[in-house]
Amino acid sequence: MKRGRDLLSFASLTAAELHALLARTALFKEARARGELIRTLPGRTLGMIFEKPSTRTRVSFEVAMVELGGHAVYLAPEGSQIGRGEPIADTARVLGGYCHGIVIRTFAQERAEELARWAPIPVVNGLTDRLHPCQVLADLFTVHELRGDVVGARYVWIGDGNNMAASWIEAAALLGLDLVLACPEGYDPDAALLAEARAQIAATGRGRIEVVRDPRAAARGADVLSTDVWASMGQEQEAALRARAFAGFCVDDALLALAAPDAIVLHCLPAHRGEEISASVLEGPHSAVWRQAENRLHVQKAVLELCLS
Ligand code: CP
Ligand code: NVA
Repeated sequence: MKRGRDLLSFASLTAAELHALLARTALFKEARARGELIRTLPGRTLGMIFEKPSTRTRVSFEVAMVELGGHAVYLAPEGSQIGRGEPIADTARVLGGYCHGIVIRTFAQERAEELARWAPIPVVNGLTDRLHPCQVLADLFTVHELRGDVVGARYVWIGDGNNMAASWIEAAALLGLDLVLACPEGYDPDAALLAEARAQIAATGRGRIEVVRDPRAAARGADVLSTDVWASMGQEQEAALRARAFAGFCVDDALLALAAPDAIVLHCLPAHRGEEISASVLEGPHSAVWRQAENRLHVQKAVLELCLS
């Protein structure tokens, strides 16, 4: 029996739980602003397996755990037996004897799932090639803060049909969001994931997910304009090829001018200024990216509490 619950994708959350998580996040943020910490995980330890680089996810989870009254242990491939090929199923059972939860950032989603299958403790997805749910939770919380609600906005994704796009698609299906993704040909989101999300939308009768080729058509009237790097971690060797394929997909002032007058611009960071987003938009008045990055901390607390309690 697992002690707690995994969060590997939005599939393990109901819409009501997601809304509750956003409300709880707001309480964590407000308390911290008053100088108070809500310590609901005293004495608990989080194992943090990172097989890819990270700044935000690593630091926000670690600080969140400490501020909840717990402790975090970082494991990188080069400093642990993971990098020498110790099976993830063995690592899962061993960490299960020491820790109360694990965050994993890795390549294949299946590896995170295997870890979760073997670990007697909850496993949280801190990014895989397929999904980045905790980031999209922070993005949704940012929208919730700025607009008062996550439902009812026109969400537009500009760029690669990558892990971030996939988590947005899952969120749209779960919450009934109106989501348009502009992706160049050959860089669409996963077809099976899209089909599943659309089936969920058809069943609930709420939301819309559309994939288009023209970023300008997509951006028209957008309330939330999101983008991400063109070459994700592990795709560095494709960077030149992708830069050609994504020409015209930069979120710049011309594209932003097509969006709603009060549009919010999101980027999970790290950003490549002049590629997927212009410096003027990233640093401009519509950008919520620094708030979005800070919100990772507040959201991780709600995630850890939900999964580890
Ligand atoms: N957005 C995000 O996940 O950033 P890091 O790669 O720095 O964790
Ligand atoms: N899509 C990016 C997100 C980084 C936080 C990547 O996977 O590298």
